[in-house]
Amino acid sequence: MDSVTKKLFWREEYMTGIAEIDDQHKILVHALNEASEKLTGDFHLSTMEKIVNDLLSYAIYHFETEEELMEEYGYEMESDEAYRTHLKQHRSFSSRVVEIHEGLKIGTPVPAVQLLDFLNQWLVNHILNTDKKLGAHILAKQQQANQQQAE
Ligand SMILES: [Fe+2]
Repeated sequence: MDSVTKKLFWREEYMTGIAEIDDQHKILVHALNEASEKLTGDFHLSTMEKIVNDLLSYAIYHFETEEELMEEYGYEMESDEAYRTHLKQHRSFSSRVVEIHEGLKIGTPVPAVQLLDFLNQWLVNHILNTDKKLGAHILAKQQQANQQQAE
């Protein structure tokens, strides 16, 4: 009862400056917000399973979007370490969520508070420390390209 997860709200500081990424992040924040509402108080385990499942699909789609942008803007070539760290974080998130999903299927769910804390904290940390770096890289490349065009 007392262990209620803080809801996640969109904040200006989450902006990476790349509309495609920011729009998807807003959808994720909204989804986590809704999840915390649905997983407060009494809920059916199938509700949690659906949330985890939907979230995993959307996260995978979102990671693909970002990874395509990395490719398009030469992230690996120019920031090899940041690129690898970024990919590693995407992979470990997906495998943790798959694990949680498997647990649900065999009847050993994680407590809702723990699940929501993990999701909220992961997303915020990842946006602030990892996605924003990618955003800055893309913006710099776009600026470079614009300058070259103007010359
Ligand atoms: Fe990312």
